[in-house]
Order: sequence, then structure tokens, then C-alpha cells
Amino acid sequence: MTEERDFDNFDEHAQNYRDTHNKVVEMSGADSDYFSEYKVVELLKFENPKQTMRVLDFGCGDGNSSIYIRKHFPNTSIFGIDVSDASVKLANEKGITNAIFKAFDGAKLPFEDEEFDLVFTSMVFHHIEHKLHDGVLKEIYRTLKKGGRFYNFEHNPNNPLTRKVVRECEFDEDAVLLKPSYNKEVTNKSGLKTKKLNYTLFFPRHKLFKIFLGLEKILTWCPIGAQYYIRAIK
Ligand SMILES: C[S@@+](CC[C@H](N)C(=O)[O-])C[C@H]1O[C@@H](n2cnc3c(N)ncnc32)[C@H](O)[C@@H]1O
Repeated sequence: MTEERDFDNFDEHAQNYRDTHNKVVEMSGADSDYFSEYKVVELLKFENPKQTMRVLDFGCGDGNSSIYIRKHFPNTSIFGIDVSDASVKLANEKGITNAIFKAFDGAKLPFEDEEFDLVFTSMVFHHIEHKLHDGVLKEIYRTLKKGGRFYNFEHNPNNPLTRKVVRECEFDEDAVLLKPSYNKEVTNKSGLKTKKLNYTLFFPRHKLFKIFLGLEKILTWCPIGAQYYIRAIK
């Protein structure tokens, strides 16, 4: 691990990001696209898919999540932001309608106060130094409208398989996973109010486990899912 690190820039991983991710998640029985889509599908538990809204995909990477934001929330204007120029370029090349992706300095969001109805972020905070989380969350708070929602999807460090996958993944070399309790605390410190902390992905996605997948919706309280997310409101 590098000693001086504010956050991990994915320029060097951008081109091969999906291939690398596909390899690391292979043993789960699902592919990288599956993991991008399942998170957006989770939002449908709380959000009306027909609503017109401005969504920020914070740490958008190559824009894969935004493909599914567009699919499941057709009336959104999507804004994606990332520190990696190379990733943002790939995101813009995907040609997602009504979506703009921009690079920024990783600290100050280039948006006015109260611009967004919803901020979505997936697997980004473990690439940012813990000491910077507070500042980043305050920026997210600032750019959210009153009543706006924040969804933060993260790896669960309590799950040994998750830790193994992260250990073996080349672009997670410097990642420092966030304990769910810490994540909730730092989120609330920014002024956002955590309404839910749900655990996800308890079973592999192989056909053999299909009958168990229905159980996942009643296991959201159980702190051993492979990932978790925070839903917070401004
Ligand atoms: C594991 S990738 C996830 C990409 C995307 N969210 C996804 O789920 O496919 C982590 C991303 O976080 C970005 N990142 C790192 N530090 C950041 C920061 N301070 N602000 C915004 N993005 C950041 C990286 O450049 C990288 O694209």
C-alpha cells in the first residue's frame, strides 16, 4: 500500500476494468454487468421509476452503473463524475442518452448547491482516504436538494469472501474497506440522515442457489452479506 494516498485514480485500470472485474467475480456465478445492475434495481425498493429527477453517479468510472440508471429510471438526467479522465472518456463514449460524464479534482464537486434529487455511488469510498470521507460527504450533502436521497454501495469487510476478492483484485490493491458502522457515522456527521443500512448478496448466483435468492430480501439486517448500502436523506 502506498503511504501517501488521497484517493485511487483508475486511469491505468480504465481500459481493462470490466475484463478484470469479470475475472474476479467469476466464482460468484454472475458477471460485472450483473453487479452493476443489481444496485440500481435495489433503488426501486424506494424510488418511483417514473419520476423525473437529476441523478449524480459519484465515482462513475466507465459509466456502467449509469447504463442501468438510464434503463430503470428513464426520466432522469444523469451526471457522472470521477477523478479518472480515462474512465470518464469511456463513459462518454457509451452514448448513454441524457447523460454527461466529467472529471474533477476528487474533492470539490463542480455543481451548484441543491442540484440533485439523488446521488448514487458504488464501490468508490474504499478508494478514498478515510480522513477525506467527511469532506466528500459534505459536498454530496451540499449538492443534494432538500429531501434528496443518497445511496452508497460498499463492500462488506465482515464477509471473508469479500475480503478475499478485494485482496486478489489488482485495482483494489490500495483499497481500505469501510465498516458499516463507521460508514453510517460519517454519513450522519455530514448532515445526511441514514434511514437504512441494508446488507446484500448472501448467496452465489449459480443456478443451484436460485431458490435461496428470494431469502435475501428478508436477510437485509444480517451483517454478513458480501456488500451493503446506506440510504440517507438530506
Ligand atoms: C471500483 S471503481 C467503481 C466505478 C463505478 N462506480 C462502478 O461501480 O462501476 C472506483 C472509482 O472511484 C473513482 N474515484 C476514486 N477516488 C474518487 C474521488 N475522490 N471522487 C470520485 N471518484 C473517485 C476511481 O477513479 C474509480 O473510477
